[in-house]
Amino acid sequence: PLIKVAFGLTDLEERIAEAFGLIHVVVVPGDSDNSSFTKKELGRAGAAALRKFVVKDDVIAVTGGSTMAQVAHHMSISSRMKGSWFVPARGGLGESVDMQANTIASTMAKKTGGKYRLLHVPDHLGEEAYQTLMQDPQIQEVVDVVRKCRIVVHGIGDAMVMARRRKVDQDTTRSLQAEGALAEAFGYYFDRQGNVVHKMPTVGLRLDDIQKTEVVIGVAGGKSKGEAIASVLRHGQEDVLVTDEAAALEMMKHA
Ligand code: G3H
Repeated sequence: PLIKVAFGLTDLEERIAEAFGLIHVVVVPGDSDNSSFTKKELGRAGAAALRKFVVKDDVIAVTGGSTMAQVAHHMSISSRMKGSWFVPARGGLGESVDMQANTIASTMAKKTGGKYRLLHVPDHLGEEAYQTLMQDPQIQEVVDVVRKCRIVVHGIGDAMVMARRRKVDQDTTRSLQAEGALAEAFGYYFDRQGNVVHKMPTVGLRLDDIQKTEVVIGVAGGKSKGEAIASVLRHGQEDVLVTDEAAALEMMKHA
């Protein structure tokens, strides 16, 4: 708290909460675009925010990405989280294994003493394969747990950065650009106003499940993501944001 007062971050947290209608905002000092220390602090703050909202026997859905990997890394054994289930929010989304939601859910469970279920869904599913998979009782069972989550913790990315990282095909990339996609979160792409312009074909949480989720926690930082974060917040489902100073200042330009 002392360091935050010195940096004026408490004021920034309050302004962001008010501008975007959030119940809790945490801003860590620095810019995670160019500081691995800040990125780690973002992870630590994300883990602390999650701990604050967890209740007994909770169901927590998590996404992938390098920021979420940092959140998982900073989780620790907790008697309150022992009965929690950690599940991936969506199936495979083209991330490398250490950044996949499955990996992050299992790491979080191991670190906290909680339990996990995984979604073994391949990427780039065609419509037919998707329908077949959705009928598989084992997948269906995990999807049912995922859709009943009370908390979602997720990363936010710049749309074009994520499209490249997930090797989205050229046609889709072009239509994302044409539709003005700025941000990506849990496999959905959003434009400046927070409208969904594209959805990655996989199983798991849908937007209407997120509307029913009690606590939605976004963890994302870096100046380059400021505008993307503002877009996702404008969609209106977020409750808690954990970010860094550079992203926060950028977001306020788009508030
Ligand atoms: O959905 C967005 C990505 O998961 C963000 O990934 O934390 O590696 O930037 P990142």
